[in-house]
Amino acid sequence: MIILKIGGSALTIKDANKPTIDEINLDRIVKEISVYNQDMIIVHGAGSYGHIYATEYSIGSKIENEEDNTAKIEGFCKTQSSVQLLNNIFCSKLQELGVPAIGLQASSFITTLDKRIDNCNLDVIKEYLKKGFVPVLYGDPVLDHNDEIKYAILSGDQIITYLAEKLNPNKVILSSDVDGIYTDNPKTNPNAKLIDIVTKDTKLSLTDDKNQADITGGMAGKVNELLNLAKYGIESQIINAEKPGNIELAVSGQKVKGTIIK
Ligand code: IPE
Repeated sequence: MIILKIGGSALTIKDANKPTIDEINLDRIVKEISVYNQDMIIVHGAGSYGHIYATEYSIGSKIENEEDNTAKIEGFCKTQSSVQLLNNIFCSKLQELGVPAIGLQASSFITTLDKRIDNCNLDVIKEYLKKGFVPVLYGDPVLDHNDEIKYAILSGDQIITYLAEKLNPNKVILSSDVDGIYTDNPKTNPNAKLIDIVTKDTKLSLTDDKNQADITGGMAGKVNELLNLAKYGIESQIINAEKPGNIELAVSGQKVKGTIIK
C-alpha cells in the first residue's frame, strides 16, 4: 500500500483571490494517478479552496468572545464546504478514469487536541482499502478539544504522517513543486544540488535567505515529519508533481527522481 500526497498548490491556483482550480494540472495529475497498480490512499491539500476562508476567519486562533466564536463557526462551515467541493471535483475526475476514489471528510471522524490528531477511527479506511476502493482524504477544519481554540485546521501533511504511522504503508510519496531536498534553494541558486537520500544523520543547512523560507522552510517541516516516519521503518520520497510523468512513475512503483527520506 502507498500513501500519496498531492499539495493544494498542484490542484488549485493557490494565490488566487477565490477558490480556483488549476485545470491543466488537475487533468494531468488524475490521468497519471489512474495507472496505479497497488493499494493506495490519496491525501490532498486545500489550496485556494481552504486557505482563503481559514485565514479570513482565523480558524485555530484563540476564541476572543461569543461573537468571535459565532464568526468562527460560520468560517468553519464555509471552509469545510469549500474543501469538500474540491474533493468532489478531484474524486469525480478520478472516477471518470476508472479509479474507485472515495472522498473521506476528516472533520466527520477526526478531532484534535492543540491541533494534533487525538481521535481518529481508521476501521472504515481499512475496510474501504480491503474492498478495493481508493480513499481520498484532504486538509479540513476539525473540532479541537482545547476550549481556548475549539477549532483547528488539519493539514494534509499531518493526515499522511498519522495514517502512515498507523497503517504501515510500503511507501509514502509527497509531491511538491521542486525535485526534492536541495543543498540550497534551487529557484535562486543555480549551484544548489539535489540530495538523493536524507537520513537523521544528514546535515541540512538552511540559510536565512527570505526567498528560501517558502521552499526550504516548508520543506524543513515536511522533512521533520518524514524523519519521524523513518523511525518506524517507513520510507518516504519527495517528488516534483510539476514534472509530467513523475506521479505516474511513483504510483506504478517505478523509480522517480527525488529525495528519499529513510
Ligand atoms: C489545509 O491543508 C487545509 C485547509 C486550509 C482547510 P494543507 O495544508 O494540506 O493544504 P495545502 O497543500 O497547503 O494547500
